Amino acid sequence: MANFMEHKILVTGGAGYIGSHACKALAGSGYTPVVFDNLSTGHRELVKWGGFFKGDLSDKEAILSCLKKYRPAAVMHFAAYAAVGESVVNPARYYSNNVVNTLNLLDAMRSRGVDKFIFSSSCAVYGLPRSLPINEDQPLEPVNPYGRTKRMVEEILSDYSAAYGMKYASLRYFNAAGADPDGETGEAHNPETHIIPLTLAAAMGKTPFVEIFGADYKTPDGTCLRDYVHVTDLAAAHLLALKLLMKNGKNLVLNLGNGRGFSVKEVVETARLVTGKKVKAVIRARRSGDPAELVASQAMARRVLGWKPRYTRLADIIRTAWQWHRKAISLRLNDCHKP
Ligand code: UFG
Repeated sequence: MANFMEHKILVTGGAGYIGSHACKALAGSGYTPVVFDNLSTGHRELVKWGGFFKGDLSDKEAILSCLKKYRPAAVMHFAAYAAVGESVVNPARYYSNNVVNTLNLLDAMRSRGVDKFIFSSSCAVYGLPRSLPINEDQPLEPVNPYGRTKRMVEEILSDYSAAYGMKYASLRYFNAAGADPDGETGEAHNPETHIIPLTLAAAMGKTPFVEIFGADYKTPDGTCLRDYVHVTDLAAAHLLALKLLMKNGKNLVLNLGNGRGFSVKEVVETARLVTGKKVKAVIRARRSGDPAELVASQAMARRVLGWKPRYTRLADIIRTAWQWHRKAISLRLNDCHKP
């Protein structure tokens, strides 16, 4: 039986989209999440499953006092910037928050003797895929600063593990999508850049249409294919990774994806069916830096973690997002507009 201290997990970015779902999963499994968040993009209303410490990862003293106060058994690190386009025009913001601030966190953990770390990595570490589906052995050749920040942190973790005994799981998400099926949390980015919430904003009439960036790719319908993985399934994978790390202390580097690709046109069409609304779509030029197709091999996560994603159908993913977006309006959380 684990002792009480082993049940506290520090969740940076726990007021955000994926972090809040992880907090719900942790609480549902008997852990006590403690959210560390500066609320720059997260929402205080989404911190409902444990403690809250308002702080910024650039503030080493704040991290140390949080670790001292709660003495967590492990850290799940979601806090980061994640807009690929912005990382190209403002790389300093990305290297400083995603890399330097992560180092602050890791060093504070070292000095407080916290040695287990679950890291939000990304399929962006691979860059343009060599073959599909993408497995974990493909070379890491990110094509934008965002992806490079994630690769750098993976390298730091490997070095910290070898030198200081840090145990870690790097979880490379594909396209996180959907929302908590109970409607307790969901996606509320501002500005919003992701295709599913933007399509739903058009369905709600908040925007006149959704733009499709490129219909001339070498894909079945000409639009990009992405691997949309349900955020509740992502949260479940974090829990499994945490338990495994606690049990055997072996580092993990895993893709988390649906294992299937859906096109942008399929997203728009499925959103029409799920919402019953007319969604106008306008074809635009390609968005720079978009690979035609990104699909995960999820074989390793299934094998190593015993992970079985539950919400694999695009309609189910979009349905949970739709439920949430309608609720988020009344909560005034989601101003879902374009940058
Ligand atoms: N898209 C549109 N119109 C829009 C927005 C997006 O057609 O208004 C298209 C994109 O061109 C892309 C697909 O929809 O083909 C998905 O785009 P998203 O912006 O929703 O997601 P990305 O695939 O660009 O980004 C995701 C994660 C990033 C991660 C990246 C890795 O959100 O954090 O995958 O490639 F880095």
